[in-house]
Amino acid sequence: MEQLTSANASSDPTDPSSSSDVATEAARRRTFAIISHPDAGKTTLTEKFLLYAGAVLQAGAVKARAGTRHARSDWMEMEQQRGISITSAVMQFTYRDHVVNLLDTPGHRDFSEDTYRVLAAADAAVMVLDVAKGIETQTRKLFEVCRARHLPILTFLNKYDRPGRDPIELMDEIEQQIDLRATPVTWPVGIPGDFRGVVDRRNGSFIRYARTAHGTTAGSEETVDPHRAETEEGDAWRRAIDECALLEGVGADLDIPSFLAGDSSPLFVGSALTNFGVRHLLDAIVDMAPSPTARLGTDGAYRPVGSAFSGFVFKKQANMDPGHRDHVAFVRVCSGRFERSMSVTHEPTGKPFTTKYAATMFGASRSTVDEAYPGDILGLVNAGDLRIGDTLYAGKPVAYPPIPSFPPELFATAHARDNSRHKQFRRGLEQLEHEGVIQVLRDPEGDPTPVLGAVGAMQFEVASHRLEHEFGARTDIEPAPYKAIRITDAPTAKRLRSSAGIRVLVRRDGTLVALFESDYRLTRLRNDNPAWCLEPLETAI
Ligand code: G4P
Repeated sequence: MEQLTSANASSDPTDPSSSSDVATEAARRRTFAIISHPDAGKTTLTEKFLLYAGAVLQAGAVKARAGTRHARSDWMEMEQQRGISITSAVMQFTYRDHVVNLLDTPGHRDFSEDTYRVLAAADAAVMVLDVAKGIETQTRKLFEVCRARHLPILTFLNKYDRPGRDPIELMDEIEQQIDLRATPVTWPVGIPGDFRGVVDRRNGSFIRYARTAHGTTAGSEETVDPHRAETEEGDAWRRAIDECALLEGVGADLDIPSFLAGDSSPLFVGSALTNFGVRHLLDAIVDMAPSPTARLGTDGAYRPVGSAFSGFVFKKQANMDPGHRDHVAFVRVCSGRFERSMSVTHEPTGKPFTTKYAATMFGASRSTVDEAYPGDILGLVNAGDLRIGDTLYAGKPVAYPPIPSFPPELFATAHARDNSRHKQFRRGLEQLEHEGVIQVLRDPEGDPTPVLGAVGAMQFEVASHRLEHEFGARTDIEPAPYKAIRITDAPTAKRLRSSAGIRVLVRRDGTLVALFESDYRLTRLRNDNPAWCLEPLETAI
């Protein structure tokens, strides 16, 4: 870490803060997200991290049980009704003198675009796999996003307290399916369902776990020397030792440089429910995951963490607080020291932006923040003018690359039920588009019915619900039969317009797009007219 600190020190003479203080604070930060298939145990693990860090006294606070405190991000009525987390929350806690920023990601696959944006703000990810299931579809998709961003990934084989698959088989599956070399740091003693503890392969010690009642308090661990382990655990210990020798033989040892490059993944086994292995994983996040480092701007230059303040908006959320109709822009701090009330520049417009209402978020609750450092997440309240991807900075100008959106896979038409609410309907759609809830495609020739694009069907439901409840515009959203979308240009658009089953629309950024009711039709057109402009949309992954 010392190396990073000095490499990140600023030489910017306009920098008002002490760059070495900032670099020291940055080196204490770990900012990461958990990725998993629904039900693999992300919420349970999040809750246990908070428990081990002392941020909550009893597990159950995140996944709120009746009568316990809510720290969960389900502030939206719909989320509460369905018991799913749609919007992402940020949780900050300290652990071993480090500041850990845990970015929560929505579990439902329909919101993977939101997850993608959250991952743009993370420096590392923890991939949680259910030991009985291994790599599942959603894990694979999210992993691809991490790979595209070269995010270092720690792997946690969860649910070891119950029957599951052989961990060696799972290592093979990880390697074969997602081309990630798993390097076990801890190795189980006992089989899934009869889990006794782990061997820490770094020093050969045996950590034996003891259950606590329902895992609501931190589990007790006992470090046992190998001799005693052999006497007390017998075959389970000998088997674990044989397997560790095998792992060493195949070179599956912890390899920090390849982990940081996103090519190998330190693997941990445990059970979030019973707290087995949670502390090891949290220690590894602090010890192995990278602290924030210099970030690349669009001009090709890296801005050191010790430079003046800069950050980018990775998420927007409206009406988090039902008492105040507000817009919160979540900003990942990339460099410098943020101080409340400081005036920064909004890069896209060049206008000043006053950050009087900055807050840190913990689930749905927020508290005012006075200062923040690289790796931290700010919730800027009353930030209606900020868009996803926008850069804010002080001192020397910088622009961070935009966050690409996913090409929509599903389409629907949207009609305001009541014509007199048309203004509210338009304003609502604009707002939802800015927040990245849905994409809105409009007819450049004047048809007032927009076409909405989404990655998952539930995005339409959220849009419809919010249009009605926040903007007072009841809306009929009906599936549209399009199967494919391509970027086009004016000459090609002119030809396409006369064809049935094809629609030419325009995106918010002015790009012309063509929608096709049949993939086959698109393929034929491309083959027959190679000179036509029918480009795939820039893809996020
Ligand atoms: P998610 O956020 O990834 O969707 O998963 P979540 O933590 O909600 O866990 C999904 C289910 O798996 C929950 O059970 C949870 O208790 C269980 N679970 C999580 N980790 C472990 C583990 O290490 N071992 C075992 N045996 N189970 C685990 P549920 O019945 O759906 O919910 P609940 O009634 O327990 O809250």
